Amino acid sequence: MSAPATLPHPFVHPPRAGAAPLIDPVALARLLAAESPILLLDVRPARERRFGHLPWDRAVPLEGLATALADLPTDRPIVAYDHLGFRARAAAEFLAQRGFPLAAALEGGIDEYARAVDPSIPRYPADDPATGLMLRQLPRSESGCLSYLVADLGAREAIVIDPGRDSAPYRELLGTHDLALVGIVETHTHADHLAGHAALHAATDAPIWVSRRSPAAYPHRALADGDAIRFGAEELVAIETPGHTRDHLTLALRDQLFTGDTLLLGACGRTDLGDGSPDLLYESLHDKLLKRPGATEVYPAHFGTRHALPDRYVSTLGFERATNEALRLPSREAFRAYMTEGWPPKPADFDRIVAENLRA
Ligand SMILES: [Fe+2]
Repeated sequence: MSAPATLPHPFVHPPRAGAAPLIDPVALARLLAAESPILLLDVRPARERRFGHLPWDRAVPLEGLATALADLPTDRPIVAYDHLGFRARAAAEFLAQRGFPLAAALEGGIDEYARAVDPSIPRYPADDPATGLMLRQLPRSESGCLSYLVADLGAREAIVIDPGRDSAPYRELLGTHDLALVGIVETHTHADHLAGHAALHAATDAPIWVSRRSPAAYPHRALADGDAIRFGAEELVAIETPGHTRDHLTLALRDQLFTGDTLLLGACGRTDLGDGSPDLLYESLHDKLLKRPGATEVYPAHFGTRHALPDRYVSTLGFERATNEALRLPSREAFRAYMTEGWPPKPADFDRIVAENLRA
């Protein structure tokens, strides 16, 4: 087989010097099916391994990698994996520096492998039963949109982020888990699809929260930087991240970020549909989001080919910092050029969609 450096990777080009090559789950499955002599290395902490692991792998937590080098093969590829790809990438880069030229990292981690290749592998519970936090991601495959429901299961209170127009999936989750909806949050004024806050508000009477900068004409509560919406013992904290639009908010819950269109997987939202600004987006990304720890989980608002994005739903800041083409540009000027050149034509009806989404 060829070295992992030549493995296909559709979203990253070209890798920065010294970066570990990535392998996507489908390509890895192909190699495993062909019985290629690769070593799978689980670099997660031991406590995470109980969720499940890949077959025929070896567990060497990232922290113990330096002392395990003598036991690792230098003559066959090593594919490191973890939950979402951040630790695996660090492991592969470490191995490459220590004389293992065939080290690669599994993109998207075991979570993506389970989703894309092998549903029999248990996916991480997004819910945290120990603390009663529930986190559900609701993809809409027809539009490539992602919305979220978070809840405190002890207090039975929930918040929905960026709902779609059909409120049935949210109402069903609320009903199944006996949850009261205490807030509906729009990360920003969407220009690519009709927003669902009005339908969900009509069904539940929950208040709608948007940025203080939003020109929304419907009744809403305004969020400024650092404001929190409480649900039970938890809180969703607003981070103003203007750029994609002026009214864009990222929402933080513990070490998870709901990044809307500010940070997507492998990319960021365009700034030319409405009142966006490449400079503001650059500052939001680098001065606000990327200051956070690499293990911070990233939950975006879009996925899939419809938006020229990978068919993945979740990442980490560390993985995006290393692989996202919008974050790897060498300067603000380069970012400005990236945001103003080479984008597909604007959707014909985005003005009408924005107006409809702001309507009272
Ligand atoms: Fe958007």
